[in-house]
Amino acid sequence: MSESVMTELKSVSPDIAIFFSRHPTVTNRASFASASSKKAKMAIVFRGEHMKAIPRLYFATAALFALIGMGWGIHMSATTDHTLSPAHGHLNLIGFVMMSVFGAYYALAPKAAAARLALIHYGLSVLTIIVLVPGIVFAINAEGEIMAKAGSVLAVLTMLVFLVTVLRNRAD
Ligand code: HEM
Ligand code: HEM
Repeated sequence: MSESVMTELKSVSPDIAIFFSRHPTVTNRASFASASSKKAKMAIVFRGEHMKAIPRLYFATAALFALIGMGWGIHMSATTDHTLSPAHGHLNLIGFVMMSVFGAYYALAPKAAAARLALIHYGLSVLTIIVLVPGIVFAINAEGEIMAKAGSVLAVLTMLVFLVTVLRNRAD
């Protein structure tokens, strides 16, 4: 990145300047340099790779959960022991299906993806899986229901954050 663009970037936002300097593949530098107002420059930055990282994060995590869930499914089929199938089902449904829907939403709604709430939402989604899935296993094995209950509350919170996000972000 040229010195002049970097200086201009620093005057708009030091944080974004640091981000651009660490991510040399960001594609929008030329249009950034030619944009007229500070608002236009920020819009270009947030339409860039910074924003696209959010849907990618959701989809990569969803694929990871799906791989674990499918491995679990194959193991259940191979052993013909389907006792834990609800845990497998919810790992796939919440971990893969729900997170993929969120990822698709953030890809369609760049403004929502640029908000700090998108990362909090991501953290809550992952935490739901980490608490709920073992929670279902413990509940099925009669080893306590507290984690399943906590996981359910987290799942509902995750969906509430999604509702707030959707309502907050209207089309421009
Ligand atoms: C390699 C892929 C998969 C294998 C081998 C597999 C295998 C299984 C098996 C053996 C059961 C138990 C069936 C029974 O007892 O009647 C099951 C249940 C289930 N699976 Fe999968 N599965 C796979 C992928 C998925 C995916 C991708 C999803 C969702 C997106 C999913 C959702 C479910 C659900 C909802 C149940 C029922 C859970 C319950 O009993 O409450 N599975 N699966
Ligand atoms: C707060 C979150 C959730 C809780 C507490 C919850 C709880 C449950 C429970 C207790 C069952 C019955 C399991 C059994 O028969 O042994 C069930 C079944 C099921 N859930 Fe959920 N669930 C949640 C979220 C979801 C979500 C987000 C999806 C879909 C994306 C989903 C899809 C299913 C399906 C397809 C079944 C039926 C599986 C079958 O036919 O055996 N659940 N869920």
